[in-house]
Amino acid sequence: MCGIVGVIGKGPAVPRLVDGLKRLEYRGYDSSGVATLVADRIQRRRAEGKIVNLEARLSQEPLDGTIGIAHTRWATHGVPNERNAHPHATGKVALVHNGIIENYRQLRDELTRAGHKFESETDSEVMAQLITHLLDQGLSPEDATAKALKRVEGAFALGILFDGHPDLLIGARRGSPLAVGWGQGEMFLGSDAMALAPMTDKISYLEEGDWVVLRRDNAVFHDETDKVVSREVRLTALSGALIGKGNHRHFMLKEIYEQPAVIGDTLNTMFNPATREIALPQLPFDIAKVPKITIIACGTSYYSALVAKYWFERVARVAVEIDIASEFRYREAPMPEGGLAIFISQSGETSDTLAALRYAKAQKQHVLAVVNVPESAMAREAHAVLHTHAGPEIGVASTKAFTCQLTVLACLAIATARARGAIDAATEAKLSAAIAEVPSRANEVMGHDGAIQQLAQKVMEARDILFIGRGTGFAIAMEGALKLKEISYIHAEGYAAGELKHGPIALIDETVPVIVIAPSDHLFEKTYSNMQEVMARGGRVIFLSDKEGIARIGDEAEATIEIPSVDPFVAPILYAIPVQLLAYHVAVLKGTDVDQPRNLAKSVTVE
Ligand code: G6P
Repeated sequence: MCGIVGVIGKGPAVPRLVDGLKRLEYRGYDSSGVATLVADRIQRRRAEGKIVNLEARLSQEPLDGTIGIAHTRWATHGVPNERNAHPHATGKVALVHNGIIENYRQLRDELTRAGHKFESETDSEVMAQLITHLLDQGLSPEDATAKALKRVEGAFALGILFDGHPDLLIGARRGSPLAVGWGQGEMFLGSDAMALAPMTDKISYLEEGDWVVLRRDNAVFHDETDKVVSREVRLTALSGALIGKGNHRHFMLKEIYEQPAVIGDTLNTMFNPATREIALPQLPFDIAKVPKITIIACGTSYYSALVAKYWFERVARVAVEIDIASEFRYREAPMPEGGLAIFISQSGETSDTLAALRYAKAQKQHVLAVVNVPESAMAREAHAVLHTHAGPEIGVASTKAFTCQLTVLACLAIATARARGAIDAATEAKLSAAIAEVPSRANEVMGHDGAIQQLAQKVMEARDILFIGRGTGFAIAMEGALKLKEISYIHAEGYAAGELKHGPIALIDETVPVIVIAPSDHLFEKTYSNMQEVMARGGRVIFLSDKEGIARIGDEAEATIEIPSVDPFVAPILYAIPVQLLAYHVAVLKGTDVDQPRNLAKSVTVE
């Protein structure tokens, strides 16, 4: 992943570079660094760990200069120490890289034989050395970069600073995102528009294979054949303000609590309160005619797809296939012409999902993106976009983006069912009314936060935790387990309740809490039976259900959390909240880094 910032400015570069890095910290936080030109010579500072460490280093050893590049790292090749931190520098260039250079071993051997000395274990340094090698042969910075780009394989975004060239920055993009910001007599480079928001609202995105030469007063774009090309300048509406935690201790908790509001904001764009009907933005295809829907995503967004599969199949009677993007993109799946392919992503940049989107486009699918970042690559490349209005999500573990995705997909499922004649008017009205009440019911769920916090005490010592459910409850079980793993580092598994007896039941003893997701729906009795199987083997059941469900089981469970009684159609949106809160409180009790858990990053732009 990693985040990149570059500045050719008028004033000191470092404060702006560091501010840009903080806005990109969601992309990784293993190490960070900056390089500037001081009296035309490359100087750099780097630090292991989060950006605060770099700031501490810079306050001890400040760095001048009006031109510079900076990087926050999510380690791929080489442990996250200072030596492997970017920028990588030779005497002639400093370079920051996001992505993976796949043929780096071969290039490294070749360059080592030519006498270049490597100081890191990274794939990235090979690019700095390769450009240096070409500069040594007398090539200009532009020609050396263009030539080096043709030698490397893999995915990357690069920012390159040249010793002795105080008015030159070069950026390049293949696979990983990169944006150019236009200032007045200043130019900027960044992994996304958000990093550049305090500096400018004028943004151009590099297209696949592009490289760009920045000088203070202009930017010249080249395509992969080195031809000079023009790239549109867009105005972004992103705010320059850094987002705060409000009164909350962590971004994650703030984002969990924002859910009633942002689900409402999302719903407002798709629900007509006057007619009480779902009214989607116009889509450039006829949803009544699509032969099949394929939904692709990663991580938490994939569990939105899993919920949506149940919705589309059951309510809209349309065949749905779902897959995780990293598998789908290489499966060479045949797709019926004119099918609908939906890509769900908070960031809109996840590289596997983006690659899968491109595959679906090539397979003549109608491509719909459900994204939270409006100017993301997926939003730009899809034929149509349905936006989640969750607002910036900073906590690495996705919460509000997930429930907003579900809100969008629920509305789309109802609209699809109506268009295909799969539901009558009464059913449509019932489902639409159910979705309309989700924001207020979600608010009620927040009232159980205290009880969930107490529950967290009961499970925090567990080594393994199981989450089980059926139907959309199965999807929430998967999401609950993922949340817990991500931020508390407790091993957790989500299982289809009916599948438990085919293996995982062997894990159950009195030390294993089993969290049962069981809204009163058509599958309740079956889930209840599976819960009995767990209890018969000494398992400790924590039961999430509504008033009717809890009354049904009496005092059999070790603990219960009552979720409001709603139409089972919208239950997964509400049941997502207690599993988020549980993971949050367990993580706080365990003292982990809730917002930036180890080894993870929010936006995954490598395979
Ligand atoms: C990372 C994040 C997850 C997220 C997943 C997919 O793994 O840590 O929270 O669900 O990427 O990201 P996307 O932006 O495509 O939804």
